[in-house]
Amino acid sequence: MTSPETPPEWFTDIWQLEERGFAFEKYLGGGLRGKAWRFREVAHNEQDRSRRFVIKYTHNAGSLVSVEKEIRFAKRLYGQAHIAQLIVDGSGPREPLNIPKDTLKEQRTFLVSEYLVNGELQRFQSKANERRFSGRNVNPIPNRVLWFIFKCLARAVLALAYVPNRPLGSLADGQTVLEAPGFFEPATATHYQIYHADLKNHLGNLMFGEYDAGEHYLVPVLKAIDFSEATDTYDEFISRFGEGITGDTLTQGNIRDIGIVIQSLYGHSSVDTPAKFFKYNKNLDEEIYYLATRCADPDHTKRPGVNELYNTVHNATLRKTGPEHFPGKRFAQWESDNKIREFMNDVLHTP
Ligand SMILES: Nc1ncnc2c1ncn2[C@@H]1O[C@H](COP(=O)(O)OP(=O)(O)O)[C@@H](O)[C@H]1O
Ligand SMILES: [Mg+2]
Repeated sequence: MTSPETPPEWFTDIWQLEERGFAFEKYLGGGLRGKAWRFREVAHNEQDRSRRFVIKYTHNAGSLVSVEKEIRFAKRLYGQAHIAQLIVDGSGPREPLNIPKDTLKEQRTFLVSEYLVNGELQRFQSKANERRFSGRNVNPIPNRVLWFIFKCLARAVLALAYVPNRPLGSLADGQTVLEAPGFFEPATATHYQIYHADLKNHLGNLMFGEYDAGEHYLVPVLKAIDFSEATDTYDEFISRFGEGITGDTLTQGNIRDIGIVIQSLYGHSSVDTPAKFFKYNKNLDEEIYYLATRCADPDHTKRPGVNELYNTVHNATLRKTGPEHFPGKRFAQWESDNKIREFMNDVLHTP
């Protein structure tokens, strides 16, 4: 099916798509803050890989400000495995080659990033729900899948807590670094952390990329995209954060938001007591429930720190390796590697 929308002529001109071996594939979406298009590199590199990438461009003064901000944050987050990565040519971001001198800033400001192949967390959630309610006795998202997603989210929080500011081009093409805990919790002085600010509302800014031979062998890597609402200043963080919700650091804000993401994946109820909740949710791992609930607490002193959070989730993924680690759970048989592959195939890879 061809997309009804194709990039405007001025865009094709300045990017010199054909000359550079870039082929337009499709319109991805976007709203007031920029539009995103998908392209493919016609294979000419050593591995003969035809890599896809995304160009987000601005179309008015308002979207210019937010795309410029996204570029600034993407540079600072270069190399972070759980953040959508800039495409870097040499030692700078991929850019158009043919910009006439008098071109408006709106028409020469682009965010060029890797294409995440496995779709939005939002789509995963709705397909998991659709599947679950397609009949009686169908399992919800397996606990180990929730733990793997939790781990990606904890790494994304680390990515934004300990911002590396690596020089562009200092890593091999496409190489990323798994985010690791720091020696200390991120401090109250806040300007070097980043608050994403748009993770929890619709799950459309978290996207699945590829599987790998490491910790993403069953569930592909989940990365944060869309830093158009993000901030690195404490005052803006507080003014955005909401009534009655506390946080001394921007990192504590991200922790609250990912707690809410996990809660929405398992269908948290804020009115039920835990006892009542588990009466009707006989499969959910209590540890996931209590950890996500701590993360989501409006009072930041009740939330885990990012290092504690990461270590807790990491240990759970190492410890809980199959059905035998979920005794008494209604759908424990779905926790084996093979059943998880089957589940992921149903939910992520079946149209
Ligand atoms: N790197 C990417 N890989 C795959 N899809 C993407 C990527 N970036 C954006 N998209 C798609 O385009 C949509 C809009 O992009 P986004 O950056 O979230 O812009 P907006 O500010 O309009 O929400 C996303 O929800 C996603 O579906
Ligand atoms: Mg978005």
